[in-house]
Amino acid sequence: MKTYLAGIGTSVPPKILDNAYFETIIDTSDEWIRTRSGIRERHVVEGTTATSDLALDASRKALAQANIEPKDIEAIIVATATPDMYFPSTACVLQNKLGARNIMSFDIAAGCTGFLYAVGVVDTFIKSGYDNVLMLGAECLTKITDYTDRSSCFLFGDAAGAVVFKKTEEDRGILSSYFASDGSYGDLLNMPAGGSLRPASHETVDQHLHTIRMLGNEVFKVAVRAMGESALKALERANVAPEQVDLLVPHQANIRIIEATAKRLHIPMDKVAVNIDRYGNTSAASIPLALDEAIQKGRVKQGDLVLMVAFGAGFTWSGVLMRL
Ligand code: UT7
Repeated sequence: MKTYLAGIGTSVPPKILDNAYFETIIDTSDEWIRTRSGIRERHVVEGTTATSDLALDASRKALAQANIEPKDIEAIIVATATPDMYFPSTACVLQNKLGARNIMSFDIAAGCTGFLYAVGVVDTFIKSGYDNVLMLGAECLTKITDYTDRSSCFLFGDAAGAVVFKKTEEDRGILSSYFASDGSYGDLLNMPAGGSLRPASHETVDQHLHTIRMLGNEVFKVAVRAMGESALKALERANVAPEQVDLLVPHQANIRIIEATAKRLHIPMDKVAVNIDRYGNTSAASIPLALDEAIQKGRVKQGDLVLMVAFGAGFTWSGVLMRL
C-alpha cells in the first residue's frame, strides 16, 4: 500500500514586489538580486491577511481536485514558520475555516523543509490506516521580514501549497524518503525573539528580533551540501538512478543552490522545476508551489518520477521520491 498525491492546490496573494522596489528601500540593484539569488519578483500579503487565509484558498483547490469534501478529511497538518499565532495552531484555525469535522490538526515547525517533513508524517499516518489527509506548506514570510536588512529582505515571498494524500494499492505514490537535522547550526538562520527564551519586549522590538536573521553565505554552503545528500539518499533508498528522475522539485531558496544540486545529480536544468524568479523563497510553500506549476504546465504526468529536496532552518533537510 502506498501514499499518493490525489489533489494539489496553491494560493499566492495578488500584490507583487519587483526588484526595483528594493532599490528604493535598501542599497541594492535589480542586477545584484537577480544574479546572486535568481529572484525577479515575489508575491506579498497585505493588511490582515494571514497564513491561514492563503492556506484556506489552497486547501479548497486541493480538495476539489481530489474530489473530497471538508467533512471527509481525517487529519490536517500545516508546515509553517509563520503561523497565524503561537496557538491555536494554524491547522486548527484552518480546520475551523474549512468546516472540517472533529479531526486531528497540528502544525509542523521545520523551516523550509517543513513541507517534506509533513509528507513523511502523512506517509506514516496513511500506512497506519488513515485516508484523506490534507497537508500544507503555508507561509507569510514577509510578515517576519526585516526590510532594513539588505542581506535578506529581497529573498522572501508569501504563498501556500496544499496537498491531499490518499492510500492506493497501485504502483504510484511515495517510494522513499530521507530526513535529517543538525541543531548546532540553529544560530545561522532564526527568528531570535518572541518565544520563551526572549519574550516580546520593547527592547526586542527595537532591536528587530522578531524578524528573520540569516548569515546567508554560511547557510548557502551547508544548503548545497545537504540538498545533494538528501537527493542521493532518497534515490538510493528506492534503488533509482538520478537519470530516471522525470522532474527534480527543489526548495526555491536561491537559483545557484538549485543549479548546484542539479549539477551534482547530473540532472539537466530542463528536468528541474524553477519558479524562484517569480515567487522568491516561500519557505515551506515553495515545493508544492513549484510542483503544482509543473503539473499544470504538463511537465509531469501520472506515472512520472518526481524527486523533491529541501533545506531550511534548524538546520533541517530532506529528500522524498514519489511516482505521481
Ligand atoms: O531557505 C533556506 C535557507 N536559505 C538559503 O539557503 C539562502 C542561502 N543564502 C543565499 O541565498 C545567499 O547567501 C544570499 C542571496 C542571501 C546572498 O548572496 P551571497 O553571494 O552569499 O552574498 P554575500 O552575503 O556573500 O555578500 C556578497 C557581497 C557583500 O559585499 P562585499 O563584502 O563582497 O563587498 C555584501 O555586502 O554582496 C553584498 N550584499 C549586497 N549587495 C547588493 C549583500 N546584500 C546585498 C544586496 N545588494 N541586497
